[in-house]
Amino acid sequence: GILILDYGSQYTLLIARRVREMGVYCEVWPCNDERVGEFVDAGEAPGKGIVLSGGPSSVSIEGAPKLEGGLLELDVPVLGICYGMQLLAHAHGGKVEPAEVGEYGRTTIEIDEPVGLFHGFDKGTELDVWMSHGDSVVEAPEGFERVASTHNGLLAAMADTERNFYGLQFHPEVSHTEEGETLLENFAYHVCGCTDDWNMSNFLDTHIAQIREQVGEDEQVICGLSGGVDSSVVAAMLHKAIGDRLTCVYVDNGLMRHKETEKVRTVFEDHFGIDLRVVHAQDRFLDELAGVDDPEEKRKIIGRVFIDVFEEVAKEIPNVKYLAQGTLYPDVIESVSVRGPSATIKSHHNVGGLPERLNFELIEPLRELFKDEVRVLGRTLGLPADMVDRHPFPGPGLAVRILGDITPERLEVVRAADHIFIEGLRREGHYHNVWQAFAVLLPVRTVGVMGDQRTYDQVIALRAVTSRDGMTADRSHLPMDFLGRMSDQIINGVKGVNRVVYDVSSKPPATIEWE
Ligand code: XMP
Repeated sequence: GILILDYGSQYTLLIARRVREMGVYCEVWPCNDERVGEFVDAGEAPGKGIVLSGGPSSVSIEGAPKLEGGLLELDVPVLGICYGMQLLAHAHGGKVEPAEVGEYGRTTIEIDEPVGLFHGFDKGTELDVWMSHGDSVVEAPEGFERVASTHNGLLAAMADTERNFYGLQFHPEVSHTEEGETLLENFAYHVCGCTDDWNMSNFLDTHIAQIREQVGEDEQVICGLSGGVDSSVVAAMLHKAIGDRLTCVYVDNGLMRHKETEKVRTVFEDHFGIDLRVVHAQDRFLDELAGVDDPEEKRKIIGRVFIDVFEEVAKEIPNVKYLAQGTLYPDVIESVSVRGPSATIKSHHNVGGLPERLNFELIEPLRELFKDEVRVLGRTLGLPADMVDRHPFPGPGLAVRILGDITPERLEVVRAADHIFIEGLRREGHYHNVWQAFAVLLPVRTVGVMGDQRTYDQVIALRAVTSRDGMTADRSHLPMDFLGRMSDQIINGVKGVNRVVYDVSSKPPATIEWE
């Protein structure tokens, strides 16, 4: 496959997505990954082709992330994008200078020489491309030729077709770049000789074989099942690989959505025949949460009680050697990022802490996948569509959607309102246009009138956002009459609520959840 070295561009993952969409396997490593040096020392190429991503730095400043020089001696094609191209130029004695004005956004380029990535285009073809850089390569270095220029005559692309080194000053991976996919395809298929044989069913076959090899005949695997997409896919996959050597543990913490426990039972116990232990721990969680209104405190308590409960169940199952988890590729990458740790906005707990406490070996079959690839995998495994296409749901559940104290009564209110909203979105065809939607119970009372009576009751806020990855989000433009119907149904159907509001803030500066 292709190896992408990450120099910190916000688009690095997008390069990986594009390559995989072509059916070519790829991995992203931080630019300073030690494995690069090991490959170089062994004189081996770490892939069929290498992409150097863009990045915020400038090759001329002290301490800027570097290119491992030995890589260029390995007889492997290299594509440098933006900062990556500047690194390539720098390594070959090319001139890299700060542009008088940085170029950001759309630019038109013209193809000078239809070679390398531009193979198959006509000379003189114009393309609209997406630029985002401060520095630029002033002239093509020794051994390279200029293959495309911007409108004002700057170098937009360069190539050394002898040694298969290519540089693009713009971003072929963003969708605004015309023919960007063709350029990446030319690199992967024609230059590197990759084939489009990476897909979900051979991913599945390979990994099932690996799991069978790894897990011995008398060994057991335990898996925490939350009902979310990731853990559901892990459970279905493990079950397919090792059948009844898998035990799933579903902890009902009392903070789940409407009829969640039944749903999980139907799918995993009835349909797949998985050994599912449902632990009813509602009281334990609610007791510990009583009187706690700080969001981070809620998360900590839920994380801790979850580990306690899980550990108790795990002890009852003999011969458990492995813990299966739904860790995704973005989690893996973020944890080794060159950008360093970002400030903790919320401590997203998931099942963090479990592995250390339990001393099990980890099985993480989704480590190489992005969220939407996991969804495809889920479908390939025969999970029901409404499970695979579910909105994300936070680990601490409804606890972070009840502002203030959590009580059984307030849980009932938010659960009922959420159910009405989600069913409405599904019924009226909005569900799949939304990244995530839910109801939040606010800690205020407002005055209303019902019949001839004054009421003084609670407020539900509805939230629906569009997003690619949860990192940024925009309010969903749901029709006002739909929201009106939701308001009527909630106020009429949920006792204790007399007002419904819609949250129109974006992330940033707000977050998706209210806590
Ligand atoms: P925020 O609210 O930070 O949410 O914009 C981004 C995404 O993360 C989810 N989220 C959580 N997931 N544990 C989780 O497993 C948490 O504590 C948590 N808090 C937020 C949120 O639902 C959204 O998808």
